[in-house]
Amino acid sequence: MSKYHLNINGTPKTVNVAADTPLLWVLRDHLNLVGTKFGCGIGQCGVCTVHIDGVPTRTCLTPISKVGKSQITTIEGLTKNGDHPLQKVWQELDVPQCGYCQAGQIMTAAALLKKNPQPSDADIDTAMAGNLCRCGTYLRIRAGIHRAAEIAGKESA
Ligand code: FES
Ligand code: FES
Repeated sequence: MSKYHLNINGTPKTVNVAADTPLLWVLRDHLNLVGTKFGCGIGQCGVCTVHIDGVPTRTCLTPISKVGKSQITTIEGLTKNGDHPLQKVWQELDVPQCGYCQAGQIMTAAALLKKNPQPSDADIDTAMAGNLCRCGTYLRIRAGIHRAAEIAGKESA
C-alpha cells in the first residue's frame, strides 16, 4: 500500500492503496464517486471514462500509480450544478434509456466539444466510437451532441 495525493474535481484527495489499483476502484470504492461505472474492465466499453488533464480516459485501465499530479474530472465535477449543455440536452431530448453508459458518453462528448465546438456527424461517430450503449441510444446521443453544440455556441456568442 502507498499513499497517493490526487486532484479530483478541483479538490485534493489522499488515498492509501496498492500501486496497481485501477483509478476506477479508487473513485468508486474509496472516494464514493459512483457516477463513473464499471462495465467490461478491459478498455472496451467506455462506461468508466473520466477526463485526465482534459483527455477522456478509461479508468479501468489506469493504475493509480500513473495518475500523478494530473487533474481528474469525473461526471460529478463536470460542472458545479449539473448544467453543462450536454447535461441539459440529455434531459431535454431524453437521451438515456437505462442510463448505465451515459456518464461515460457525456464525458467523452464533453471532451469532443471542447476540442471541436461544432462537430460533424462523422466527427461525433469517430469520437464516440469507443463508448458502447447496450440500449442503442446512439442516434439520440448524436442529436444531443449537435444540440449541445448549438446551445454552447449561443451561450458564448
Ligand atoms: S469498464 Fe472501462 S472501458 Fe469498460
Ligand atoms: S442507456 Fe442503457 S446502456 Fe446506454
